[in-house]
Amino acid sequence: MGIQRIESVTYTVDDLDTNVRFFTDFGLTPVSRDETRAVFRTRIKQTLILDTTERPDLPPPVEDGPTLREIVWGVDTPAELDRLAKRAGADRETPDGIRHTVDRTGFGVGLTLAHSYEGEHEAPRAANKSGYVNRVNEALGPVGRVRPIRMCHVALNIPKEGREEAVAFYTGPLEFIPTDVVKPMGVFMRVEGDADQHNFLLCHRPDKAGVNHVSYEVNGFDDVIEGGNHMIERGWQEARKLGRHTVGSNVFRFVHAPCGGRVELAADMDRIDDSYGTRVHETTPPHHIWTLRTNRDRGE
Ligand SMILES: [Fe+2]
Repeated sequence: MGIQRIESVTYTVDDLDTNVRFFTDFGLTPVSRDETRAVFRTRIKQTLILDTTERPDLPPPVEDGPTLREIVWGVDTPAELDRLAKRAGADRETPDGIRHTVDRTGFGVGLTLAHSYEGEHEAPRAANKSGYVNRVNEALGPVGRVRPIRMCHVALNIPKEGREEAVAFYTGPLEFIPTDVVKPMGVFMRVEGDADQHNFLLCHRPDKAGVNHVSYEVNGFDDVIEGGNHMIERGWQEARKLGRHTVGSNVFRFVHAPCGGRVELAADMDRIDDSYGTRVHETTPPHHIWTLRTNRDRGE
């Protein structure tokens, strides 16, 4: 097989307290914290690392300020890990078993064995419509504290110049599968072991390197709304209001993140298989099918 999932994401940040507060409010599970570093996990045990040191062990940051420094991808078997690490030139191994390299833009890339997740997946809320009744004698309440299930995709900005080489590093040595190639904007890709329409986007439209966003899958539509509301109530700044994307079909809300870029709350992304192929778009599809529109400005 090959790469199964995002295993960890490392950011360098300047204010650890603020970042810890952000991701605690966001609903990730705290794992450890010391003077310079905090670690969180998603529900399927992917790791988020926030580090205030310069991390000279990683490639230099691609942009000023807090930013994403490395994505580590989880591979299914030791043989596949060896094979992909060799192809990608990931010849620096750290004691934690991660093989490190750098992509064509300058972002750190790691490969490691994927953690197997054996926990239960929570069922989605049962929905009702005439002819399709799934919930009887059962009232809904708030979803409660939103706990992101997993990092489902990462979007990185890259310069226009050299974009083909930047993409080819992932589709070549790392065997990412291009799913939607949007010629004026970027390339959506998925990894071998995941059926999401995309796990990764290299976006050249901004024409500069940087972190765009990391997307977190939550349990459903209510969680996207309530999770975003919670972040606003906690004082964080919404970056993009509720909507549904055209490419991928996922429902989304975006929040500005103090670690750089934004985080996305996502639900109901398209799942695909090999028969989807690679879809090439000469023009950029609309960003969304819809976003929330209102002509009330009086609050409640
Ligand atoms: Fe996204």
